[in-house]
Amino acid sequence: MSATRADPRVRAPFGRRAATVTGAERHGPYVVLRCADPAGPRPAAGQFYMLTAGTRWGGGQDERPFLPRAFSVLRAAVGSDELQFMLEDVGPGTRRLCELEPGEELLLVGPLGRGFVAPREGRRALLVGGGVGIAPLAILQDQLPQTSTVLLGFRDGAHAAGSQLLADPRVATDDGSVGHRGLVTDLIEQELAADPHAELFACGPPPMLEAVRALCADRAIPGQLALESGMACGYGACFGCVVATRDGYLRLCLDGPVLEAARLGRVR
Ligand code: FES
Repeated sequence: MSATRADPRVRAPFGRRAATVTGAERHGPYVVLRCADPAGPRPAAGQFYMLTAGTRWGGGQDERPFLPRAFSVLRAAVGSDELQFMLEDVGPGTRRLCELEPGEELLLVGPLGRGFVAPREGRRALLVGGGVGIAPLAILQDQLPQTSTVLLGFRDGAHAAGSQLLADPRVATDDGSVGHRGLVTDLIEQELAADPHAELFACGPPPMLEAVRALCADRAIPGQLALESGMACGYGACFGCVVATRDGYLRLCLDGPVLEAARLGRVR
């Protein structure tokens, strides 16, 4: 991995820069947006970017401009200037980003935050994701030198199309239309029963992350959780992303989004 346990952070160039959209592909309800970012460094797995469409970003008649949206990077191949992001249309800002077409401009700031670090010596990596939260696990899988086990959960078969973005996943769906019927935590239990010497790397909705955190605490297994929070600035200025930890309050955009599970009392 490019990041070390001591400093899992790749620093962003100062200011916002323009990247050109090079592609957009649908995977069920998700859109994978590709762009060329020749002026930026290669990000570490788990870092994020603040994204803004270059045009039609709110601000129409009787409208305010939208705030930038924070997205974990999905993929960033070494030796290429391409960045990929996984989007889901859940509101006006994400809808506009999902509409972007090749040749349009994407404005970005990043990479930001602290990402994942390599698994502890001798532990196998279990990558656990839910919904659009699977995004940082794809770049993590790419960057890990060893083979990882990937466990993904989705609400239904349409959303499970996102599982194609990672290699060799085991899938759980709430409705049983693809893979295991039930929660992705059922798959974690199965994997730990076969070999408990693991470290969990997780990203997804808060109930899933809380289940992973509790499981790590119960079994004394290390875990790294990529948390989500509303982020207005992305670099520590607005205090909009504060989360409570056992060490006190942290700004997730600076000290996260990836935190050790043991630092958290509860994920909300
Ligand atoms: Fe502004 Fe974290 S998003 S301080």
